[in-house]
Amino acid sequence: MRKQIVAGNWKMNKTESETIQLINELKQQDLNSEVEVFIAPTYVNLSAAVKSTTSSEIRIAAQNMHQSASGAYTGEISAGMLQDIGVEHVILGHSERRAYFGETDELLKEKVKAALEAGLGVIFCFGEELEERKSDTHFDVVKQQLSTALFDLDATQWPQIVLAYEPVWAIGTGETASPEQAQEMHAFIRSLIREHYDYACADGVSILYGGSVKPANATEIFAQADVDGGLIGGASLQAEDFAAIVNGF
Ligand code: 13P
Repeated sequence: MRKQIVAGNWKMNKTESETIQLINELKQQDLNSEVEVFIAPTYVNLSAAVKSTTSSEIRIAAQNMHQSASGAYTGEISAGMLQDIGVEHVILGHSERRAYFGETDELLKEKVKAALEAGLGVIFCFGEELEERKSDTHFDVVKQQLSTALFDLDATQWPQIVLAYEPVWAIGTGETASPEQAQEMHAFIRSLIREHYDYACADGVSILYGGSVKPANATEIFAQADVDGGLIGGASLQAEDFAAIVNGF
């Protein structure tokens, strides 16, 4: 049985005190215990978040990391540093990192490798832009993203990978993919993994949907056979909304 996962990507939001406050609010929510819950605060608040969640089931992810273990990379953070402070997962390949910081799938391949070597789990994001969907190239785009960044991995490394399909046109726009569009893409993704690896690998990987998931649409999206949860932006900044999404399964 695949893990059901809901992860909150807090992006560049919340000070340290606000981070602790939101975590405390989340801890007061009745969260479905069948669902693995992650939150991803900003770098500077990761330590505080790890400490605030030690007595809870909420797990902490980072939003990015550098591909090198250490060295002269001013402003950057390594996988080992994240691991050392108790962070268990890292989000890699978010469309905002791709669009604003020039991250390519070749670079992401290196980041994924470095994260896994350091013992971090990876929430790998990918998805097509609006023009690509309109021109009906979205399946090719996704195939290319996954094969470049991930298909060199060994099958034994896949249990450390969570996939997050986030169509760029649905991120922060209020426009979600329909449940059918999400299911169609998720089934396609699983078929790619099956072709490249095997059934066990494809059936074991959790594939999250991200892009304008809200309490009002979570249940319908999560009900799709190949949707194993969500990566939530805006709605993860409100404890009640995030809890309602976690409980949307
Ligand atoms: P929204 O939920 O705000 O659309 O953001 C999705 C996202 O980018 C999660 O990583």
